[in-house]
Amino acid sequence: MTDSRKKLIAGNWKMNCSRAEALQLASAIIADASESADSDILVCVPAIHLADVSKLTQNSHVKLGAQDGHWETNGAFTGEISVSMLGDYQVDYLLVGHSERREMFADSDERVAKKFAAALKNDIKPILCIGESLEQREQGVTLNVLQEQLQAVINAVGIEAFANAAIAYEPIWAIGTGKTATLEQAQDVHSALRSWLANHNAEIAENIQILYGGSMNAGNAGDLLGQSDIDGGLIGGASLKAEDFLKIYSVAG
Ligand code: PGA
Repeated sequence: MTDSRKKLIAGNWKMNCSRAEALQLASAIIADASESADSDILVCVPAIHLADVSKLTQNSHVKLGAQDGHWETNGAFTGEISVSMLGDYQVDYLLVGHSERREMFADSDERVAKKFAAALKNDIKPILCIGESLEQREQGVTLNVLQEQLQAVINAVGIEAFANAAIAYEPIWAIGTGKTATLEQAQDVHSALRSWLANHNAEIAENIQILYGGSMNAGNAGDLLGQSDIDGGLIGGASLKAEDFLKIYSVAG
């Protein structure tokens, strides 16, 4: 267990919450999440709620994240929001490469790398999401898939850029399904990824937070977060209930 790595408990609200619900959820989290030297707490909210929620998070230790952003600063990209615009709302983190965006919104490795670079350029910490499908796991190519996803970003920005980033390992088959990777499956992948990263840069590999995502909840978080290479969670469903999310944060230490 490496004490030097702080845990990061990140809520991914996805496309959920009315304005009133978003304000209520953010307020409840801010009110009850006590500051911890060992873990950070983050909410990644729908873009339309960033302005409202940032007014609340700015005066708290709860960090604010966005779920997507376009790499160009501005231009003819109807419907898009640029990463630089997110910067106006004191956004601390940006999710990049979430499997839902890769699968449903054509986020290729190349686009993911551009978003990752844009986040760093705007002083926003990217959380690079990677994950394998059930078919890929069954074919035994999990690590190859994850390494390819990481390598594409490393090729674009260099390994040193990962000093200001986090990684989220999210097996696609565990997202929103109620099926969690076993402790062994999750720890094995996290540790293999860290070893692989160490071939590029040992210091970055040692320090980078590798979060687990995929049906993490108040019941299983303690065991998952207790694994030596799991440095936090990216939590969807269970982050929409303040009580559950805060419980996960409290077991993180
Ligand atoms: P889940 O989602 O916790 O609902 O499985 C995780 C994610 O997609 O980030």
